[in-house]
Amino acid sequence: MPRVRKRRVKHHTNKCTSEAIGRQPARIFLERRREPYSFVHSGGVSYGPAMILRDERADDQQRVREIHRLAFGAKHDGLAAGDKIADLVDALRRDDPTAAAFVAEEADDVVGQVMFSRGLLDAPRRMVEVRTLSPVAVVPDRQGRGIGSALIRHGLQELDKRGVPLVFLEGNPRYYSRVGFDTAGEHGFRKPSLRIPDEAFQVVKLSAYEPWMTGTFVYSDTFWRHDCVGLRAENT
Ligand SMILES: CC(C)(COP(=O)(O)OP(=O)(O)OC[C@H]1O[C@@H](n2cnc3c(N)ncnc32)[C@H](O)[C@@H]1OP(=O)(O)O)[C@@H](O)C(=O)NCCC(=O)NCCS
Repeated sequence: MPRVRKRRVKHHTNKCTSEAIGRQPARIFLERRREPYSFVHSGGVSYGPAMILRDERADDQQRVREIHRLAFGAKHDGLAAGDKIADLVDALRRDDPTAAAFVAEEADDVVGQVMFSRGLLDAPRRMVEVRTLSPVAVVPDRQGRGIGSALIRHGLQELDKRGVPLVFLEGNPRYYSRVGFDTAGEHGFRKPSLRIPDEAFQVVKLSAYEPWMTGTFVYSDTFWRHDCVGLRAENT
């Protein structure tokens, strides 16, 4: 008799609420890391004696530029991708006074940065101010130790406190699902470009989110000007 295999039904769990990111101590997420840091709240957020998460300061900007050049490095469109991203970050700081950037500092050295800047959601009722997570980078020799995830969680917690309802990004869902993001299309959102793969268009809903907030996500002009939206086809 042929064996009938039971089809596994994949249940969709909503990981995108602030419960998933804001109300759980970040230690829970860091436990799985190879180097579990302890978590102490101070001026910034301290991971043991050596790791601090804090707001970016003006005197970090040169080092942050270097981090993006090291992390994104490779050539792209004739311009090294790292330079392109570093230029985007500088432009976002200039264009968007509300942009929030956080850094990870280890032994007095900044080793990672994440940036959240203004975007819009074109919802049926009205335009809604949301945030774009881009970019995030950790210096190559410090990657894979939970720093990127901790920076993102820290940033999301701060944005949640500031009443931001939604954060959008483009990225690998395998990575960003660890920090609460989910496929945006499955939550009634439309991507801003056909050059963004469906699964790469992701969102996290924070406490201020309300169910009427659906519609098309719109990047700020800075992302378009720097051609930092979606993927470009090569040799076409
Ligand atoms: C992406 C990045 C910020 C992650 O920072 P990190 O401190 O290394 O991340 P964490 O330690 O929190 O997580 C590491 C895990 O994420 C995975 N990961 C890292 N980048 C990934 C990516 N782009 N896609 C899928 N998985 C990724 C690693 O393989 C590792 O997996 P493991 O735990 O199973 O070994 C860092 O790798 C980086 O700077 N990359 C280059 C710049 C970049 O691509 N930025 C993202 C686009 S804006």
